[in-house]
Amino acid sequence: MDKAAASAPGKVILFGEHFVVHGTPAIVSSIGLRAKVEASKISEEAVLLEGFGDENPAVIASKYILRKTGCRTGLSLRISSEIPQSVGLGSSAAVAVASAAAALMACSKALDSSLVLEAAHEGEKVVHYTPSGIDTSVATYGGAGVFSRDEGYTQVDFDLEYLLILNTGKLRRTGDLVRKVKEFADKNPNRFKEISEEASRIVQEALEALEKGDLPYLGKLMNRNQALLREIGVSSPELEDAISALLKAGAYGAKLTGAGGGGCAIAIADYASLDEIIHKLSVSGYSVIKARLVVEGVRAEPLSSPP
Ligand code: PMV
Repeated sequence: MDKAAASAPGKVILFGEHFVVHGTPAIVSSIGLRAKVEASKISEEAVLLEGFGDENPAVIASKYILRKTGCRTGLSLRISSEIPQSVGLGSSAAVAVASAAAALMACSKALDSSLVLEAAHEGEKVVHYTPSGIDTSVATYGGAGVFSRDEGYTQVDFDLEYLLILNTGKLRRTGDLVRKVKEFADKNPNRFKEISEEASRIVQEALEALEKGDLPYLGKLMNRNQALLREIGVSSPELEDAISALLKAGAYGAKLTGAGGGGCAIAIADYASLDEIIHKLSVSGYSVIKARLVVEGVRAEPLSSPP
């Protein structure tokens, strides 16, 4: 095959980001926004991605695939993505996963999810400092579930179809925030241990609430989780304003999602009031979307133009 295309979904972390880097579990779902990558074989022995250098997760993941499969070709990658970048929705992981899958299929190999995940994780190390692997796992396997560094990703019963995502538009780098939390943990080891234990309890309670579809209780747990994220220093004035606005507009609970420091806030609300909340917030100038949760992971896509 001279060309192949694949797509992978973005994600939201509902509970437990940052603490997951230090070993506690987190809850994550794929979302209905996807990144698509088309990989075309080229004669030059390089992986090219217009506008980006070699130190890019998509390029590194694709090179990993070429090396592992012994596929002697160069590739040109073309990305089209619905996932906003650098705001906590797993854009770089989705692109890395879709690139690895497209590279694999361009080399006429079947889509092997575990190899794709391995390749994308290598790519993510460049941008994420010490990635837990949560983003690449959910982009690969889709669905929703619990993730921990020790156990990896396990899909669970998940009775939550939609949530709200408010993009503050403030870009930030995951690695910087992960470093900030490490500094907090190094300076305050006892307090960090207590906070991590509370984060772990929230995750356990959330798993039960998700199984039952108890939206008001999930909202309360989000507020509790946000207080912990605030204490370890990863919230921001933009996020605090957004969260207050979401709660004021009628959400059951709200928190930052992903690395924080800007990026997106998420909120849980009664499904019947989602549109009304979006409307109220748009009047105040916020951009909010209703995101579908629990979608398909990496998959082959038709080529935009036939080979
Ligand atoms: O890159 P983001 O914003 O989607 O955040 C990833 C979640 C963290 O827990 C902050 C980092 C990680 O690797 O788990």
